[in-house]
Amino acid sequence: MSDSKATVLVPGKIHPRVLERFEGQVEIITAPSGAEPALSADVAARIKAIAVSGGVNARWIDALPNLEIIANFGVGYDGVDTKHAASRGIVVTNTPDVLNDEVADTTIALLINTVRRLYQAESYLREGKWAANGPFALSPFSLRGRKVGLFGMGRIGQEIAKRLEPFKVEIGYHTRSKRSELPYTYYASLKEMAQAVDVLICIVPGTAETHKVLNAEIFAALGSNGVFINVGRGSSVDEDALLKALQDGVLGAAGLDVFYAEPKVPDAFLSLPNVTLLPHVASASVPTRNAMADLVADNVLGWLKERKALTPVPETPVKG
Ligand code: DGY
Repeated sequence: MSDSKATVLVPGKIHPRVLERFEGQVEIITAPSGAEPALSADVAARIKAIAVSGGVNARWIDALPNLEIIANFGVGYDGVDTKHAASRGIVVTNTPDVLNDEVADTTIALLINTVRRLYQAESYLREGKWAANGPFALSPFSLRGRKVGLFGMGRIGQEIAKRLEPFKVEIGYHTRSKRSELPYTYYASLKEMAQAVDVLICIVPGTAETHKVLNAEIFAALGSNGVFINVGRGSSVDEDALLKALQDGVLGAAGLDVFYAEPKVPDAFLSLPNVTLLPHVASASVPTRNAMADLVADNVLGWLKERKALTPVPETPVKG
């Protein structure tokens, strides 16, 4: 490197706007993502920041002796080993808030589509079946009269709840602790909520604590009229249990934007009539992804220029 620009590593692919924002400001090193980095010691020693859409494990962190910040593209940062980063004094940032409205909008669309089968109805029209065979079948479910339970009541959860209010459904939630300021019914356990509601929306982050907590017991509690929506992380779901519950009619329907081993989706889901499947698009509009890209760039550039991280995650707080 000829001048004194700081060096930023971008493993794998990232939104192009992040790279555009870095252009001329920093030295960019790209590398294939993988189990561990393939970088010379000299290059590794220059790297002060990582901008990533995906994962950064302990081996990547350990390979970079002068790493100071990992800026994650996405509000969920389950791919980044924050514990290891914290042990090395490395700041991790994510992209909260700028996607709240988009994800909440998509959640409502996914819920209504799951309940009313609008995608199948449109396909029916496009395939010429309306004229040939008559009206599309009535949807077995409706949103009318439903009780909706949110598993997770953070910033996105609250936006989803606000959007649900005009739909005239009852709203409840389960989180570790009650949010007394919120006008919704609190359930002390996930199972209690699943028994009380007939729509369960998952918007919790993927952590060890939430791993596969949506299991056969929860789907049975939700019941044959129940609808499960997941816009959080696939790791929160026991997918085998979900499939079986949907196949056996133990659970009524599901709308899924996230999966356990993305981008792989178990084939068995594809043949079920009572599921709506999206390829992790809750925040995937051009304006929202641009805003996320800007926040990644602002975190990295702010840190490198002024040691200012705009949105550090709670596991790696920035003092001062
Ligand atoms: C996030 O930001 O974590 C989303 O899942 C990406 O769309």
